[in-house]
Amino acid sequence: MHRASLNLARWVFDRTIGSIRDPRTLRRVGEGLTRLTHAVNGRLRQRVADAAPLPEMRSHDGRERLRALVLRPDAPWRSVEAPRNGTPGMITDEERRYYAYLGRFYSGRGEVVELGPWLGCSTSHIVQGLRGNPNFSGRRLRVFDDFVWRASWMNGFVPEAERPRNHEDFRHLFDKYSGGLSESLTVEKRRILPYDGNEGVPQLAWTGEPVEMIFVDCGRLFLTNDAWYRIFSSSFIPGVTLIAMQDWRLQFRCPYTGRIKRKTSRTRRAPACSSSTS
Ligand SMILES: C[S@@+](CC[C@H](N)C(=O)[O-])C[C@H]1O[C@@H](n2cnc3c(N)ncnc32)[C@H](O)[C@@H]1O
Repeated sequence: MHRASLNLARWVFDRTIGSIRDPRTLRRVGEGLTRLTHAVNGRLRQRVADAAPLPEMRSHDGRERLRALVLRPDAPWRSVEAPRNGTPGMITDEERRYYAYLGRFYSGRGEVVELGPWLGCSTSHIVQGLRGNPNFSGRRLRVFDDFVWRASWMNGFVPEAERPRNHEDFRHLFDKYSGGLSESLTVEKRRILPYDGNEGVPQLAWTGEPVEMIFVDCGRLFLTNDAWYRIFSSSFIPGVTLIAMQDWRLQFRCPYTGRIKRKTSRTRRAPACSSSTS
């Protein structure tokens, strides 16, 4: 079967793609093939997840067990209510639901951390989930961002009148949109590592409390992800800590290709920050 599939692919390549000369067409074909590769990798992840169940992690009422579900249309978070609440956001509908869903599994054994809330859309849904869980009562979500505006990929998500200038502080916008959550949040302006205008922002240093859940949405740069891992990983609880990473499944995509830049300026939509947990 494996050899037959490869032979078929080679045959199709020789008769179709092999004769294409136009670079634009070739680029489009390449993107299509990358999408197919994602689909194959998705199947692979499903198989791996099925074969290796997660450590036991139960919802606060004991009714539900957290399962590793990859690309499943019947995943339980898909039916969670997590409507848009007016906060501009870069996450998808499914991601909002997933964040709201995860809160029921918080046991209180450690802190809950969010890296990269931007204006607080993800924050509001994480808090929505946690507030429904008695184990979170009296506790706060620890939120970190450098709150430095990057016009090229942030402008497209907010009305023109509200857009700060490039590299300006946008903490006031986070406070405006997440005002109703302030009792559940501890928010700190920190940089995970020096990056694009945040050179004067204090460095994030974790105080060592155990971390039970960490929601990460601070971009796809390897160095940024390496940096937060170095800061927090010694505080993770073996077999317990849950890491929710927003940019999953986009690891093969270059966020700022020439093509995407042109699209950004024409449609005023940022390309780099939406993905699906599905
Ligand atoms: C993709 S946006 C987050 C979107 C958000 N979670 C939402 O729901 O719309 C990425 C965020 O990470 C922050 N960020 C990126 N690099 C950072 C760094 N090195 N240090 C601190 N924050 C950073 C940005 O300021 C931005 O708020």
